[in-house]
Amino acid sequence: MSIWWLFWHLVWLIICFPGPSHWKEIAHSCGGSAQSPINIEQQQVRLDPGLGRFIFEGYDSAPRGPWRLLNNGHTVELSLEGAGGQGQLCIQGGGLSHSYCALQLHFHWGSPTSNGSEHTLDGQRQPMEMHVVHMNTLYQSLGEARGHPRGLAVLAFFFKVQNKDNANYNTIVSGLRKVSYQGQSVELASTFRLENLLPERRLLSSYYRYLGSLTTPACDEVVVWTVFKEPIPIGRAQLAQFVSTLQASPVDAPPVSMRNNFRPAQPIGARRVFASPSGAPAFSPSAQMWALLWLLLAMACVGVL
Ligand SMILES: *[C@@H]1O[C@H](CO)[C@@H](O)[C@H](O)[C@H]1NC(C)=O
Ligand SMILES: [Zn+2]
Repeated sequence: MSIWWLFWHLVWLIICFPGPSHWKEIAHSCGGSAQSPINIEQQQVRLDPGLGRFIFEGYDSAPRGPWRLLNNGHTVELSLEGAGGQGQLCIQGGGLSHSYCALQLHFHWGSPTSNGSEHTLDGQRQPMEMHVVHMNTLYQSLGEARGHPRGLAVLAFFFKVQNKDNANYNTIVSGLRKVSYQGQSVELASTFRLENLLPERRLLSSYYRYLGSLTTPACDEVVVWTVFKEPIPIGRAQLAQFVSTLQASPVDAPPVSMRNNFRPAQPIGARRVFASPSGAPAFSPSAQMWALLWLLLAMACVGVL
């Protein structure tokens, strides 16, 4: 490898703003074996009875805040820490070994003509995906959490498009205009109950679980992923606001629309995807059915049948 090759390669790296397929050249971890997102083959998940219900703390009241909406050039992000710092919105249970508290949430979307979720279901990309990023309470900072496996827990939600607006998203959607350009941020006038953004609580016991990574560089493999089956309804016009309002470029640069801000599916490799009991495929034998089969077998052995 000549010095010129290296030189031009660097020039190319810098000038061409390389996409996801080149991230591994920038950050070593992005070429690792436990990357996210992935495609979830719903008939190939393994039931894990240990994946119980989540306990959501603070999700049912408007926290102190303030919450800040930010265009970071890759997505629009709502900081959830507030002035009181982290620890107002936390999750436990759900097969997690520790309590995790929310840092921020953000979105991944497509274009006017294509879907833009990061995870795919049976190869199908969904219209949009929201990530609520939580940090393990064992750690003091994001930097520290990123150094440990299971340092972060991300709750991933798909969206489904409907004609009617979802009024619970009005605050975020109307804030988009104020953060059109990279680097812009705005403080929301008030906080709200985070659970308002999510599907009904009784529908949150169906989810998939696997171990993966952040989906942007440095792609640290420190994330316990939870992908909920139940999508969140969003209005067609509301989704269009994400697609058309946001720019990946700063205010004084040639405009670059923020679209298709998802990373493609990464190889699952040796990993398994687990399903909570209510998230398992319908045809898989239940505990009762296994018990019945064993009983029949036992009866056959002792000559009853
Ligand atoms: C987008 O997702 C929806 C819901 O899964 C699906 O019905 C539709 O075919 C998808 N559209 C595209 C262009 O992939
Ligand atoms: Zn994300």
